[in-house]
Amino acid sequence: MSRLRVFSDNTPDIPALVTHAHDEIARGLAEIGVGFEQWNATQPVQPGDAPETIMSAYREDIDRLVRERGFKSIDVVSIAPDHPNRAEMRTKFLDEHFHKEDEVRFFVAGSGLFTLHVGERVYEVLCEAGDLISVPDSTTHWFDMGDEPNFIAIRFFTEADGWVGHFTGTDIAQRFPRYDRET
Ligand SMILES: [Fe+2]
Repeated sequence: MSRLRVFSDNTPDIPALVTHAHDEIARGLAEIGVGFEQWNATQPVQPGDAPETIMSAYREDIDRLVRERGFKSIDVVSIAPDHPNRAEMRTKFLDEHFHKEDEVRFFVAGSGLFTLHVGERVYEVLCEAGDLISVPDSTTHWFDMGDEPNFIAIRFFTEADGWVGHFTGTDIAQRFPRYDRET
């Protein structure tokens, strides 16, 4: 179940707000310029399907987003819990960073934890299958796929080299909850 928790950036143990309602999550994130939508597949998709098959199941929403936002390329990324490089892949974006283009991800299956640091607040978003999240460029954030990562996501890009992580060097991400499939 998707979830938003909002914290003050100095109280990682006590969320000021917790909600599982998609409309409340979308409203809360809209306040900081982050997009959050739900998309439905027009045909069933299975793990192991070709990227073209996966994308065709969401063709109308993909085309609308590309039209509205001018994305130049799209890909499908898939990671299973037994991936041999999962630990290394998990570590890559675990610390606070930003990008010079929007980070836009649609979760076809599985889940992942995006945490955004805006002003003195921390917005932790558990994204599940059917969720699209759109993090504006320059918004500081981190992403945790967990120790047994499991997701298929469609990624949208504007620039060939835009999605480079610029790390802030803070330790805030280490003070906040990591992805935990039990909570
Ligand atoms: Fe990122």
